[in-house]
Amino acid sequence: MRYAIFSDIHSNLEALEAVLEAYQKEGIDKYLCIGDVVGYGADPQTCIDKVNSVAMITVAGNHDWAVVDLFPPDNFNPLPKEAIFWTKKHLPENGKAFLRALKLIYVIENFVLVHSSLDNPQNFNYLTNVCDCAASFELLKSNVCFIGHTHVPGIFIQDKQGNSYYENQDYIEIEPQNKYIINVGSVGQPRDSNPAAVYCIYDTDKKQVQIKRIDYDVQTARKKIIEAGLPRFLGDRLILRK
Ligand SMILES: [Fe+2]
Repeated sequence: MRYAIFSDIHSNLEALEAVLEAYQKEGIDKYLCIGDVVGYGADPQTCIDKVNSVAMITVAGNHDWAVVDLFPPDNFNPLPKEAIFWTKKHLPENGKAFLRALKLIYVIENFVLVHSSLDNPQNFNYLTNVCDCAASFELLKSNVCFIGHTHVPGIFIQDKQGNSYYENQDYIEIEPQNKYIINVGSVGQPRDSNPAAVYCIYDTDKKQVQIKRIDYDVQTARKKIIEAGLPRFLGDRLILRK
């Protein structure tokens, strides 16, 4: 089975369309979304509709839940908080119903999807280093977990001796004796100095995970954010290379 696994679209329609088009060439069997479909960008409902039309599963992100009052907006910095209130105001009820129904963790085949971490997923903590991952590795009963949330793609590995390390690489072969927490990065708001949208493919027969990038029309996405009256920085950040 070839799974398309993607996260953190953040209402960026141009990035989402580019990623879905790229997946068309990859022989994908099933699509899985790791959350934060909305927040920051100007096209929340269209992104929800597109994700809903392809994804077999979508798990809840902190922005998704904040828009429908399931996660307190006080957990956010001022600019993302402003985007949450903007999304709340502009998103139609059917979009809100979609977000309200999202669950925090989903297990499929023999791997797990969660936006942030397996321990206290409702708190949306960030896994940014191997220490942060300790509790999630402990709770991971199978050997692969896919996450998003930090917007930085990368792979945390725990070997059978319990040693954990981080690999900043875009390809890995899954070995049965190890555990893996794989951050698939962000479709619509990358934060690793590379504006290109990120997407991931997991081939469960070949036991291969690939993280890929695709350029998209970032200037249109930026312009829409500014014209929608969202904070200008949220648009400008799409083109930051530092
Ligand atoms: Fe996010």
